[in-house]
Amino acid sequence: MRYTKRIELCVTLVVGTATLIPGCNRAGKKASSQAESAQAIPEAGPLARPKSLQQVGVPAEATRAAIPPDNPQTPEKITLGMKLFFDGRLSADGSVACSTCHDPARAFTDRKPVSVGINNRAGQRNAPTILNALYNKTQFWDGRAKTLEEQAALPIVNPVEMGQPSLDAAVARVAAVSEYQQAFRDIFGRPPNGPDLLRAIASYERTQLSFDAPFDHFIAGDQNAIDNSAKRGWELFNTRGRCNKCHALTEDKRDVTLFTDNDFHNIGIGIIRHNVVALARQAEQLINSGDTAAIDRAAIQTDMSALGRFLVTKKEPDIASFKTPDLRNVLVTGPYFHDGSQETLWDVCDHYNKGDGLQNPYLDQDIQPLALTEAEIDDLVAFLASLTSADYKEHGASELARQRELSRTARPQRDTARAFGPKPIQPKPSRP
Ligand code: HEC
Ligand code: HEC
Repeated sequence: MRYTKRIELCVTLVVGTATLIPGCNRAGKKASSQAESAQAIPEAGPLARPKSLQQVGVPAEATRAAIPPDNPQTPEKITLGMKLFFDGRLSADGSVACSTCHDPARAFTDRKPVSVGINNRAGQRNAPTILNALYNKTQFWDGRAKTLEEQAALPIVNPVEMGQPSLDAAVARVAAVSEYQQAFRDIFGRPPNGPDLLRAIASYERTQLSFDAPFDHFIAGDQNAIDNSAKRGWELFNTRGRCNKCHALTEDKRDVTLFTDNDFHNIGIGIIRHNVVALARQAEQLINSGDTAAIDRAAIQTDMSALGRFLVTKKEPDIASFKTPDLRNVLVTGPYFHDGSQETLWDVCDHYNKGDGLQNPYLDQDIQPLALTEAEIDDLVAFLASLTSADYKEHGASELARQRELSRTARPQRDTARAFGPKPIQPKPSRP
């Protein structure tokens, strides 16, 4: 279906800038027939456009601070970055673009538990959204990249994502297109090259601010912007729910902006499935601290993915800790957690409610049984749903209905006895 549509698009656009339309080049065509069985490259629709700075709730200072002095925003650079973001040429066989896993129609995620890259190969991690990624103090679930520029280089060469042998190989594909040649010369004053390609992509990503949610209107003074359930949820979030211990910059002042402390915590996700101690020893042997490409392969392709931040720091308390994600648009960016293991926001809340602590010596002290009632969990979900930006309003409404329906029949994480029981005694680290 989408494939046919794209061929038509390519035909209509043969005159003019057709070669800059992802999928309209020779390799793109070959790839899309191959990707038919897998996935067509999502196109840049209206939801992909650079966003307005005038949205209710935009943090002006943080937005200014997110633009690095050595990569100022210009309209031409942003346009170039946007084309690259949707272009399969960045991948080895032309079949995968950044947008394959970060699709604007899916709030810049793929809505899969874990991402699938070239040759249908699945990785170990869930794709976070690009929306508001400009504010992240570090990138990736384990923070292994500091900037968006640094981040963008890694999927291009990861064997199960875009599979290029090197960044230069991707640059060569791009440089073969005269429109790209021209755009790079106009914008950077030199032919296509790796660092400039990454700068352009990062510039585009920095236009993806996403606020203007019902919650922002509520904070701005419109008492009717969210319902009473969401208001109760916001109270719980900052009190008995303990969510603000991590999803806020400070605990003493309510943080209404990005809902993250920019830190890393072990909250007990995926820990049961893995013998993390044995994995940690394996990781220490394999990876020299600081080798980002090696860490990237371990994180995306191997069981060592479960080690989280430990892969980066090699510090024992970081075993299986992951970055606290921003919660904006969380309703439309599921499934949840670094491994995409939870399907609904009810499952997420059930997980927190029971204070998952079994067999996990590295569990964060702030994770403990919450004794939240069913009605209180509904309230927390209502609050989380109120963080959905206006762009995804309808999408959010149908997703909330879907999750609610699912939560009526399946609550795999619910454990009321533990939620209302004492905090379990935490096992001690026992690293041989
Ligand atoms: C095959 C799927 C796939 C492709 C292709 C892909 N990504 Fe991702 N992206 C992911 C996954 C999975 C993660 C999380 C990986 C991790 O944390 O270890 C991620 C993480 C990110 C992050 C970090 C966000 C955060 O909140 O930490 C950014 C930014 C990003 N990708 C941008 C890009 C760009 C730019 C491209 C193209 C150059 C790209 N991605 C290509 C799947 C993909
Ligand atoms: C101890 C710190 C901590 C506390 C307390 C905490 N969180 Fe989290 N939260 C995290 C971390 C870290 C992750 C990512 C964990 C992972 O994927 O392994 C996360 C992930 C999430 C996600 C999934 C987001 C996504 O994009 O996949 C949601 C939703 C969430 N938290 C909501 C809450 C709510 C609601 C509460 C309160 C009931 C809460 N959190 C309490 C640290 C915390």
